[in-house]
Amino acid sequence: MVEFIDNPNQKNIIELRNIGQSYDGGNKWVIKDLDLVIEDKPDQGQFVVILGMSGSGKSTLLRYIAGLQEPTEGTVKLNDRPLGDDNRASMVFQQYSSLPWMTVLENVALALRYKGVSRKEREAQAMEIIKTMGLEGHEDKYAQYPSLSGGQLQRVAIGRSLLANSKILLMDEPFGALDIKTRLHMQDLLTSIWRKFQSTIVFVTHDIAEAVYLADDIYILQANPGQVARHIHVDLPLVRDRSTKRDPRFIELVHQVEDTMIELTEVVAK
Ligand SMILES: Nc1ncnc2c1ncn2[C@@H]1O[C@H](COP(=O)(O)OP(=O)(O)OP(=O)(O)O)[C@@H](O)[C@H]1O
Ligand SMILES: [Mg+2]
Repeated sequence: MVEFIDNPNQKNIIELRNIGQSYDGGNKWVIKDLDLVIEDKPDQGQFVVILGMSGSGKSTLLRYIAGLQEPTEGTVKLNDRPLGDDNRASMVFQQYSSLPWMTVLENVALALRYKGVSRKEREAQAMEIIKTMGLEGHEDKYAQYPSLSGGQLQRVAIGRSLLANSKILLMDEPFGALDIKTRLHMQDLLTSIWRKFQSTIVFVTHDIAEAVYLADDIYILQANPGQVARHIHVDLPLVRDRSTKRDPRFIELVHQVEDTMIELTEVVAK
């Protein structure tokens, strides 16, 4: 199990403590005694990847952080404060993350709609993000397939989340439905986003090579009950490109993560 030392001098951007989740009145706990603490790195941001077998609780953790679900037990804090309307993160899902009855511009500007920002200002800020996401020229299209491709729709969703809260971005298998070329492009776009906004990105994937390519830190969950079983720091250069994937250290890390995941399922199977 990964131990997260409670250091009162450390600022944490995400802190989950003693989390338990049961769905049948306490007979079965799908998550138990789970801790996950991510230190704030305000001038730098970071890329955190969560891996784990199906059912280990990855999506559930993201739902807690987004304020979409409360755990049965334990506490969830962002920026050392309880979640609230002004203290939550937004999430990009694998599919259906954009609202098809709204235009690209309306989708991206949505988060500001309830914050008392004028329409003109909302649209100006949204257009900035739309440019960053490479979607300029598409802002008046409806956010739906096939007028926009799968990759473009995911960029709309990422843009919307960025404008809602650029400090924390939650992504649940966001590239699972994309073809390989789009997926590789999106990986590099994301890396440039966290550098630009100094975001903390929490990213769930089943693709180990994608995890190692993107992550600063990988947390691996085990199932039954869901807990953070391992932490692997990715000691690759900060700036990565396709040549990184041929770096012997990259290949070694991919094997290390794979071996760890297999080892964890074998422990559970015993
Ligand atoms: N409403 C519910 N009722 C009962 N069990 C639930 C409910 N929602 C989630 N679970 C259980 O909680 C556990 C964690 O689910 P979660 O969706 O977080 O897993 P995951 O790690 O995201 O899996 P995957 O990789 O398949 O997406 C699973 O065992 C799931 O069956
Ligand atoms: Mg999931």
